[in-house]
Amino acid sequence: MNYKAPRGTHDIFGINALGLNVLEQKARQIFIKHGFEEVRTPIFEDASLFTRSIGEATDIVEKEMYIFEDRKGRKLALRPEGTASLVRAYIEHRLDVSFPSGKFFYSGEMFRYERPQAGRYRQFCQIGAEFYGSLSPSADAEIIMLACDVLSSIGIEKVNVHVNSLGCQKCRPLFRETLVKYFTSIDDLCQDCLRRLQTNPLRLLDCKIDSDKFINVPKMDDFLCDDCKEHFNLVQNLIRSVNCTYIVDPKLVRGLDYYTRTVFEIRSNALGAQDALAAGGRYDNLVKELGGQDTPVVGFALGSERVLMAAQHSGFFSTLNKNEKVFIAIADQDLISEAFAFSIKLIRNGLKGNNDISVFGPVDNKSLTAQLRFADKIGASKTIIFAKAELGEGKVLVKNMIDKTQNAVFIDQL
Ligand code: HAM
Repeated sequence: MNYKAPRGTHDIFGINALGLNVLEQKARQIFIKHGFEEVRTPIFEDASLFTRSIGEATDIVEKEMYIFEDRKGRKLALRPEGTASLVRAYIEHRLDVSFPSGKFFYSGEMFRYERPQAGRYRQFCQIGAEFYGSLSPSADAEIIMLACDVLSSIGIEKVNVHVNSLGCQKCRPLFRETLVKYFTSIDDLCQDCLRRLQTNPLRLLDCKIDSDKFINVPKMDDFLCDDCKEHFNLVQNLIRSVNCTYIVDPKLVRGLDYYTRTVFEIRSNALGAQDALAAGGRYDNLVKELGGQDTPVVGFALGSERVLMAAQHSGFFSTLNKNEKVFIAIADQDLISEAFAFSIKLIRNGLKGNNDISVFGPVDNKSLTAQLRFADKIGASKTIIFAKAELGEGKVLVKNMIDKTQNAVFIDQL
C-alpha cells in the first residue's frame, strides 16, 4: 500500500516550514510587547467542552469535530479551536480568582472535518490571543490591532477589516425573534437556512446561497441596547484613532455561539473563497458558563496557512533563509575525518554568531565530480575541497560554484 497524508492534511517542507516558524516568532514578539504570555494546552480535550462553548447548533459541533473514545471510554475531541481550551485551563488553574486580568496567547494545530479546498484544511495551525478580565472597548481595539500588526509584520498590509456588534443577552433576544419572523416570511430557503432557522437564526445572515433573497433584513445595529451601542461606537473610535480602515458589516455573525458584542474578521483579496485570515471577538459569558467567575474576554485567532498564502504576494518569503550554503568536499577518501572536523568547527562558529552559512557534507564513497554535482543541486555558493597536496601545506581549495573559479586558501584564514 502507498500511504498518503490523510485528506485535508499536508506535509510542510523547507521554506514553508521556515515561513510558519518566522510567522510564529513575529507574532510571539508582538504579543509579548503587548504584555501577553504564552500558554500551551492539550491537543485533545473532553468533547463536551467544545459542544458547550462553541454551541450545539454550530457547524463545528454538528459535523466537524474529530471525536473518539480513549481506552477507558472517555469521549474526547481533537481541538477545533483554542479559545475553549484556554477558558478551561483558566478556570482549572483558578486564574479567574488569582489573575483575573490575564493576557494569553497560543499557537498550534487545530482539527476540523471540513470539505478541503484551497485555504481550508482538516488540520491547520492557528495563532491566537485572548485578553481576559476587561470590559473596556480598548481591549477589543487592542485585539483588532494585534491581529493587524501580526499580519503587517510579514508584509500583509492590504486587508479588509470587517466589524460588527452582536449585542448582549439583554438586546439580542428581540433581534433574534425579529429575524425568525422575517426569515419565516421568505419562500424557498435553502436546506441549511431551514435547519438554522430553528437552531441558530443569526447564521442565515451569512448564507451565501440565499443572500440575494434577503432584502431589508433587520439589522442588529437597530436593536443594540444603549450600553452595547456605546461600546461599539467606542471600539470604532479607538481603531479609527490608530488609522485602521474598517467596514461595519451587519452580515458578520461568525460560526461560533459564544460571542457577545464585538465580532470581527480580517479578510484578504489575495485569497479565493476562504479569504478570512483572522477572526475573533468578545465573549463575556463563556467563563461563567463553564463554571468560572464572571470574567469578560476578547480574543482572536489567525489561520497560519492562509496568512502564509497571502504572504506569497507580500514578498515575505524572499526575506527568509538568507544563509549562504557551503559544501565540504573531499578529493581523497581518507581525508574524511579532517573534512568532518572542519565542517563541525564551521557550524559551531556559526552558532556563536561568527557566520551566516549553512554547511553541507562531507560525504564519503562519492567521486569528487559527483560531490560537486550535489553541491550544485543544493545551491551551494562555495565548495571547500580537501585534497592531499594542498592539505600538506595547510590549505584547502575554495571553489566558487557560480563562476567555477578555484583558489587554494590557508585553512586558518577561512
Ligand atoms: P475561526 O473563525 O473559526 O475562529 O477561525 C479563525 C481563523 O482560523 C480563520 O479566520 C481562518 O484563518 C482559520 N481557519 C479556520 N478554519 C480553518 C480551516 N479549516 N483551514 C484553515 N484555516 C482555518 C476561531 O477559531 C475562534 N476561536 C477565534 C477567536 C479567538 N475568537 C475569540 N478568540
